[in-house]
Amino acid sequence: MKIAPSLLASDFSKLASELKDIEQGGADYIHLDVMDGHFVPNLSFGVPVISSLRKCTSLPFDVHLMTYHPEAYLDGLEACHTHMVSFHVEAVPHVDRMIHNIQDRGMKAGIALNPGTSLSTIEEILPIIDFVLIMSVNPGFGGQKFIPYSLDKIARLSASIRKLGKDIPIEVDGGVNKDNAPLLKKAGASILVAGSSVFGKEDRAAAIKALRV
Ligand code: DX5
Ligand code: ZN
Repeated sequence: MKIAPSLLASDFSKLASELKDIEQGGADYIHLDVMDGHFVPNLSFGVPVISSLRKCTSLPFDVHLMTYHPEAYLDGLEACHTHMVSFHVEAVPHVDRMIHNIQDRGMKAGIALNPGTSLSTIEEILPIIDFVLIMSVNPGFGGQKFIPYSLDKIARLSASIRKLGKDIPIEVDGGVNKDNAPLLKKAGASILVAGSSVFGKEDRAAAIKALRV
């Protein structure tokens, strides 16, 4: 199981030391939540901040675009050596084009689904994407409660991926904690995003370890 702490829950007045702390604590990626105040009712940070963070860590960047027009961010994300980029299927009319736009820049392309969005929206595209991000809260804010029906959705997605005979990681984001981590693993998740359950704890290494089921 890979762990991607979400920087959204960190102390923004000391981003560099927060990053160091989770890097030393054994994080596999750093999850970076970009919000535009339109697709989701909140604003966070954008490419200028992410670009500055590149100087503070060698952790791979996992950027989650909760925005309309996610294509506008791709040149900037490529320039700061982003490893994975996910965008929301609900925000983009030309999903196939967007996936190629990401992959042609040498980044892994993922599609994010809101809790209420059906898996059928990615059925055609599944064979060509690099990962899927299942939202287990309504996106926009950290610290929300895990939505239980996400577990069944992850299990069904996992079965479809197996049927395809492909290895497409399932990333889960929202309300992840040490109690639901074993259930998420059993359902087929392989990357857990965790904001409050890592940055909300004093000992980040122990918090990451507790999630790595
Ligand atoms: C929510 C973001 C998440 C958020 C998760 O819209 O996409 O990545 O930071 O935070 P927790 O783990 O606190 O639910
Ligand atoms: Zn996220």
